[in-house]
Amino acid sequence: MKRTHNATSLDVKDIGVEVILNGWVDSRRDHGGLIFIDLRDRSGIIQVVFSPEVNLEAFHLAEQVRSEYVVGVQGKVSHRPADTENPNLKTGKIEIYVDKMELMNSAKTPPFYIEDGIEVDENLRLKYRYLDLRREEMRKNLMLRHRVVKTMRDYLDDKGFIEVETPILTKSSPEGARDYLVPSRVHHGEFFALPQSPQIFKQLLMVSGLEKYFQVARCFRDEDLRADRQPEFTQLDIEMSFVDEEDIITLIEAMMVLIFEQVKRDITIPFPRLSYDEAMKKYGSDAPDLRFGFEIVDLTELLADVEFKVFSSAINSGGAVRAINAKGCASFKRREIDSLGSMAVEYGARGMAWIVVAENELKSPITKFLSETQIEQILNALSAEPGDLILFAADSHEVVSRVLGVLRLELAKRLELIDKNELNFVWLYDFPLFEYDKDEERYVAVHHMFTSPRVSDLDLLDSNPGAVKARAYDLVLNGTEIGGGSIRIHRRDWQEKMFKLLGMSMEEARDKFGYMLDAFEYGTPPHGGIAFGIDRLIMIMSGRNSIRDVIAFPKTQSAACPLTDAPSTVSAKQLRELALKIRDK
Ligand code: AMO
Ligand code: AMP
Repeated sequence: MKRTHNATSLDVKDIGVEVILNGWVDSRRDHGGLIFIDLRDRSGIIQVVFSPEVNLEAFHLAEQVRSEYVVGVQGKVSHRPADTENPNLKTGKIEIYVDKMELMNSAKTPPFYIEDGIEVDENLRLKYRYLDLRREEMRKNLMLRHRVVKTMRDYLDDKGFIEVETPILTKSSPEGARDYLVPSRVHHGEFFALPQSPQIFKQLLMVSGLEKYFQVARCFRDEDLRADRQPEFTQLDIEMSFVDEEDIITLIEAMMVLIFEQVKRDITIPFPRLSYDEAMKKYGSDAPDLRFGFEIVDLTELLADVEFKVFSSAINSGGAVRAINAKGCASFKRREIDSLGSMAVEYGARGMAWIVVAENELKSPITKFLSETQIEQILNALSAEPGDLILFAADSHEVVSRVLGVLRLELAKRLELIDKNELNFVWLYDFPLFEYDKDEERYVAVHHMFTSPRVSDLDLLDSNPGAVKARAYDLVLNGTEIGGGSIRIHRRDWQEKMFKLLGMSMEEARDKFGYMLDAFEYGTPPHGGIAFGIDRLIMIMSGRNSIRDVIAFPKTQSAACPLTDAPSTVSAKQLRELALKIRDK
């Protein structure tokens, strides 16, 4: 019973054709004289009909099959009677009268329904992932993923890029997350690290003269997981020699057009661009969602002489006072405003001042501390009208940005302001090269330590590292960072200087990166690149909220695999070979 067609390749044009289909029993309905089976294969569903008058043997077999049994059926394509057509099925106008059936395998009752939109504990779905992936919506995600990756490969191949694989067992490459380590059996006490990205190798390939590299690369990061973070994820990793920022940006924009054609979406390029400073000021985030307004307004200058302690102390200690006009939210109940306040506190604020702009009055816990003029200036600055609600944050720039950024998103969510169909791309640029890490009391790289400073800022490296801008860029889509990269440092002396500014001793730099520094002395071309989070991109393209839905076998939020039960203990023999001992659990 070898299949002649896929279920959904059949149509009214095939009426009268004798076909053989293979697949799974999606559902079975016994109508006494007739048995109907929805037969499912990878392409979708078609109805097959068993009648004792057509074939008694097949009819009796059909009485025994259950959901998820694997069958082969042979029969003639027919019109469905007019009033039994199913507009929800691609094959809803036809059905197959079966004259022969083969039972290829039976199946236990699945732990959940094999259908779209099920509400089942995700752990159960992950434990039985092979069944979960039988569901059409999941299968579609994987198919889309395949198409997108193929589009990327074809496009880059067309542009003269070559795909090169880089090691999975390697030396730790500092991307900022914790490494996954693999103990060496041959070199006791020594470890490989799984790559957080192919960053150093792709730069070495530029030293090799490859000029245009890409890789669909698996990356591993042991960090706290969220809906858009997995311990292993896939990047489209790109590196090019003799290029500047514009070359990379142009290359990527044209690729995005082709990628979104896969979901029949026209996108407009070039994408808008936003500087890091502006993004932090106006949206409180370096991956701003621009599908809605609620821009943050800075009131620091306007309130320079304010007496209200909360505001004046923030301003006097070099911080800021900023606010959002939550348009039309004056009707929020006190408890709704308080819950926004608690959220602000959760993200580091000491409080959240507010003004309700009612028809003829202002309601607020802070207006009594402000002069008439100050109030009027604030309302003007925020274009406030009756019906609005104004939310304030006063603190360091960092805290104010973070808190108002979060409130902005929360308001949009509560008011359902986000158009789920919009695709809002924006390039972020002019990132700082460093940020100061208070806990570690040193500068850390905002992107990574191989990113080149802006040439015009080189003089500032020693005097004011915090003010140096990086030659880095991120692509943000609907408030999610989908890709990021930079023009790199390509000289040994600059790279050594960078390590030093990051608080690394010469010995440490040589120990960790000596091979890269050495390579830089053999004619390294200027180069730069970018990497995209393929999982995140597909998540957005398929309208899902979690990257787990676009990865065939993902990990849970606690970095485990319910299907295989990994991670798991290993035998005493394996530990002995590795010279490892487990102390306690
Ligand atoms: P970066 O660390 O920004 O850059 O990673 C690039 C992109 O990968 C995605 N991403 C993730 N996706 C899922 N789960 C994760 N845990 C995760 N972490 C990152 C994001 C991100 O934009 N080597 C540099 C790139 C370069 O400079 O060329 C790098 O890895 O979408
Ligand atoms: P208080 O005088 O401390 O009761 O504060 C008056 C108002 O200012 C309250 O609504 C507080 O939530 C708010 N508030 C306190 N600290 C801050 C801050 N750092 N930023 C914004 N509002 C604050």
